[in-house]
Formats: sequence, structure tokens, C-alpha cells
Amino acid sequence: MSELNSIALKILSDGKGILAADESTATMTKRLDSVKIPSTPENRLNFRETLFSSSSMAECIGGVILYDETIKQQSSKGKTIPELIISSKSIPGIKVDTGAKQLAGSTEEKITEGLDGLRERLKEYYKLGARFTKWRGVYNISRDYPSKLSIYSNAHALARYAAIVQEINMVPIVEPEVLMSGDHSAEDCYNKTSEVIEKCFEELILHKIDLRGVILKPNMILAGTDSKNKIEGEDVAKLTVKCLKKSVPSEVPGIAFLSGGQTEIESTENLNLINKYNDTKFIMSYSYGRALQQSALKKWSKNIKDIDSTQKVFNHRAKMNTLAAQGKWSRDLEN
Ligand code: 13P
Repeated sequence: MSELNSIALKILSDGKGILAADESTATMTKRLDSVKIPSTPENRLNFRETLFSSSSMAECIGGVILYDETIKQQSSKGKTIPELIISSKSIPGIKVDTGAKQLAGSTEEKITEGLDGLRERLKEYYKLGARFTKWRGVYNISRDYPSKLSIYSNAHALARYAAIVQEINMVPIVEPEVLMSGDHSAEDCYNKTSEVIEKCFEELILHKIDLRGVILKPNMILAGTDSKNKIEGEDVAKLTVKCLKKSVPSEVPGIAFLSGGQTEIESTENLNLINKYNDTKFIMSYSYGRALQQSALKKWSKNIKDIDSTQKVFNHRAKMNTLAAQGKWSRDLEN
């Protein structure tokens, strides 16, 4: 087994998933504004440290994706944040793209940037303890989108990123996110997501990526948020598994879904059903941001000193998702 393959498997083994705590300062400020807490470096650290020192970290969270600010911060107990994460046998990771910018040639679409200087930044992150990375490409759906240009250029950037990451001995999370916003049908989501993922793997193979050392982070197959023909539960699961089965090469060890704006319970329920229908060899787990943090953030904002209450809420969500990643969740466990 290669070193990269064993890191990927360790992150996603036994129902473990990934905590995506890599919100940029601008996004984190929006999240904190929503609960009326000032977005200072101390508050951002305080909330994140509360999650990273929870008891569920050891049992449920195989990896944590950090943002540049956080990976360089010290925890209140004097450890660095990566050391705190490693102390629960979880693996620190880092978001390395520098955000989605307007795509020249298609004003309505975006291209993710961050390749310049990436090799040097990765060497620094490796020294700080990171062993995996994330890069997110983002795609709108409508009648005309995503365009061939956006599908090709984002796949190319993802592959160039993944090649440099593997060169530095880290596992790249490849995240092509087809957004939920819009009135598109689930069938449109299925078709466009398949096309996007297939193009990503075509480019990854061209760039000689070791696919056994990659984690794919896709969206689930859903109808758009404004669609009149929503699908639920079993249909989401069947279409999602069908899409991944046909689009992802069998060498890839694991798939970790983003939550993408689904509620906490929807994200858990859909993941559980996906695992019931998963007739592939891929591990199918979670790499959730909002769906792991939303209730914990609300609780924390009531009293930021009450660490236990926030951790209790976070531990519950982490546990529910780890059960779902094994197809063992049921709604009555939520109470
Ligand atoms: P959500 O689960 O909130 O969609 O975030 C996942 C993520 O990391 C997006 O890049």
C-alpha cells in the first residue's frame, strides 16, 4: 500500500469522516455575524478549538481541513492547532486554493485560483503537520452552464493542484462542487455532475496522479433549491451512487461528500441511504462544513465559555454522521 493510499484510508476508515473547518476569514465572518459574535482571530480560534478538542474527534473525525490562519494558531493549552488535532489521532489538512474568481471568457462562471507559489506553500504546511489538502472548483447549473470552458478549466486546475500536492507527499481532496442553487431538475444535476467528474478524472490521469492517493469530494445528486420537482431520500441515494459508479475510476479509495446547503438532518439521512445503496468498493463518507457545525455554532454563541454544551452538540452530529457513513443511522437516534 502506498503512503498516500494509507493516509486516505486512515482519514475515512470505520465510518470516520472529515470536518471541513476551512472557511476563509470572509466566510467565517458571515457565519459569526449570523450568530452575532464579532469575527476576531480569538473568537475564530475559540470556536474551532472547542470543536477540535471534542471527545468525538478520536472516534468520528479522521481529518480536519484547516484554513491558513488556523493552522498557524496556538491552542489555549500551548499546543499548535495541528498538534491538538493529532493528539486525537486525527489528521490535519489544509485548504490551499485562494478562492473562485471570475472566469475570463464566461462572465457568469468561476475559476479557482491558487497555483502560483503552491509548491512553496505546501512545503510550509507539511512542516506544520498537514498531510492532506483541499481545492474546490465550483460550477453553476442552468440551461447553458456549466460551460465546456468552465468544466475544462476547473478540471485542469484541479489536476495541476493534485499533481503538486502528491509531489510533496500529501493527499489531495479533489472537490468539484456543482451548486444546488437554481431551478434545475435532479436529472440535470446527474448529467452535469457526471460530466464534471469525468472531465476531472480525465485531467487527473493526464497529469499522472496516483488515484489511490486521492479523495473525491463531490456534491450529492439533488434537484436545485428552486426546482418544483424535488427528490428525496432513496432517489437521491440511488442517483448519487449511479453517478459515482459510472464516473469515478475504481482505484480511488474514498469519496467524502460536501453538504452544500442541505440541513444537518438531510445531509445525515442522505449519506445513510447512499451507504445502504452503495454497491461499489468506494468508501462513502462525509466532509461537511455547515452540516457539522451549524447547531454547535448556535449553541456556542449563547455562551462562548460553556465549552461542554457546544461539544455535546458537535459530538452528537459527528456521531450521527459516522453512523450514516456505515449505513447504521436512523431518525430515532436523533432524540
Ligand atoms: P459544506 O459542507 O458546508 O458545503 O462545506 C464543505 C466544504 O468544504 C465546501 O468547500
